[in-house]
Amino acid sequence: MNELNRELLDFIHASPTAFHAAANIEKTLQDAGFTRLCEGHDWHIELPGKYYAVRNGSSVIALDLPGTVDGFLLMAAHTDSPSFRLREKPELESAGAYTQLSVETYGGMLCSTWMDRPLGVAGRVVVRENGRAVTKLVNLDRDLLLIPSVAIHMDRSANDGKAFNANVDMLPLFALTVEGARLDALLAKELGVKEEDILSRELNLCLREKGCLWGAAEEFVSAPRLDDLQCVFACLKGFLQPKTLQKAAVFCAIDNEEVGSKTRQGADSSFLDDVLSRVCEALGKNHAQYRAVLANSFMVSADNAHAVHPNHPEYADKVDRPVLNGGIVVKYNANQRYITDAVSAAVFGEVCRRAEVPVQRYTNRPDIHGGVTMGNISLAHVSVRMLDIGLAQLAMHSSYETAGARDTDYLVRAAAAFYGSSCSPTDGGIEI
Ligand code: CO
Repeated sequence: MNELNRELLDFIHASPTAFHAAANIEKTLQDAGFTRLCEGHDWHIELPGKYYAVRNGSSVIALDLPGTVDGFLLMAAHTDSPSFRLREKPELESAGAYTQLSVETYGGMLCSTWMDRPLGVAGRVVVRENGRAVTKLVNLDRDLLLIPSVAIHMDRSANDGKAFNANVDMLPLFALTVEGARLDALLAKELGVKEEDILSRELNLCLREKGCLWGAAEEFVSAPRLDDLQCVFACLKGFLQPKTLQKAAVFCAIDNEEVGSKTRQGADSSFLDDVLSRVCEALGKNHAQYRAVLANSFMVSADNAHAVHPNHPEYADKVDRPVLNGGIVVKYNANQRYITDAVSAAVFGEVCRRAEVPVQRYTNRPDIHGGVTMGNISLAHVSVRMLDIGLAQLAMHSSYETAGARDTDYLVRAAAAFYGSSCSPTDGGIEI
């Protein structure tokens, strides 16, 4: 169990941004014999076969296709996490003594958790190279920045519930000088390019602290970005486990969940539909046959869930209150913000029972509204039978989140069992 979590922590540490997560997933897929399908080319698919597509360098869809494709079993998780995005030219003079960097929020984070700790910078940079605009991943993996909080002596109300203004309170300190300190100079040095050849940047602050296992029996795992890289990691592990496939297995790691998914590569784009329909077309299926394949498909949207909080159990629902290490959390919402229904819950619950993986339930406290999930959004594009699940965690959207160490393994096993199942609608019910 701890071996698996150490692997998880290494993956998270090597994935400071969605771009890095996607690159690490791509490397893992290539090592496992998967072939890339380029969206700008014709697709030639052989059965059985292993393929993947990447969009924007931040979303990946991988397919493990058996001898015949009459349905897809999909799992989806998201590659992005709340962070601070650096402005294009971020340097800013402050107090006549400092250079700080200007940031915007990406997603909704717990601001205070980003303060008073060393931060790095990572993302992608586009550089001019032989007349082309070439994208390069970059990770300034050093203690480079820090967002200092205000001393209690200067703000006596600091412990009374504080509002943070990202453009005032959250600007990281970069240098003790008011001139000459340029982030581009560090980027150019790191990438081995000329500063004037840097054309544009997409850079986030990232917490450099590595994750750890802790607790009386090492039952907790804490790390940055557990939401949702824990689900990405575990679903990918289950996807890659050797098994006899009855349906086509599809693993989706999708960007931009934290900002509403409305991007070219997000869950509210055509990416998934494009990939699935093009695979079916390459196999000689017509539009109606593609629709029939979707009708025989089943999707699990995996995004971490709130565990009951030790100091504030009152925020949890009275009945459905997940605990860490309690197994897969199935999310319910009567208003269909989570799209689990009786049928999808029964089928997935049975898959978990057979794999000896415990299942628990989550419902928002009725007067607290949760977010809309990736699964909910992708339904508008690919309308398959679906449910929302996650792993229980504390401090969601903190820079350092906490989950259950045992739950990682539960999701790997549940994913492997799901991908190996049938989930086929028949006249008498659904064959599992
Ligand atoms: Co999430």
